Amino acid sequence: MSQPERTLVLVKPDGVERGLTGEILSRIERKGYQIVELNMLNATPQMLAVHYEEHEGKEFFEPLVNFMASGPIVAAIVEGERVIEGIRVLAGISDPTLAEPGTIRGDLGRDWGEGVQKNLIHASDSTLSAQREMDIWFG
Ligand code: PPS
Repeated sequence: MSQPERTLVLVKPDGVERGLTGEILSRIERKGYQIVELNMLNATPQMLAVHYEEHEGKEFFEPLVNFMASGPIVAAIVEGERVIEGIRVLAGISDPTLAEPGTIRGDLGRDWGEGVQKNLIHASDSTLSAQREMDIWFG
């Protein structure tokens, strides 16, 4: 039998600061996925530069990296059949104002008028990204 799929989830600094870590992880667990590694940490600029390297040069890169360095992050490895797709659906689309109700971002997120998108959660978008990102946060 093949290994169960794994993905990298980050509860971003806004989620931790607002006391939503438990709620977010609970939604993931209630869906039926398993948290197999968990760590609270402050990301270094180097980690964030690698994590978000595909967005380097975009106008939101610097605000994003500054936001992600602004406070503790909870990093998790989550396991389950088709978990990469599943967590992306649970999270909802990037813009929390437009994310569907019922999703983490749709229910718990909003635009705070700060020019930076605070959307509570990051989740890997492919098997390649998941492997790369798990190495950054748990390597
Ligand atoms: S893209 O260009 O279509 O790939 O962008 P998108 O998928 O929407 O977003 C990629 C990640 O960048 C974050 N993002 C932002 N962060 C802060 N401020 C602004 N303005 C902003 N715009 C996009 C977005 O939340 C995604 O973060 P992750 O952690 O990958 O979910």
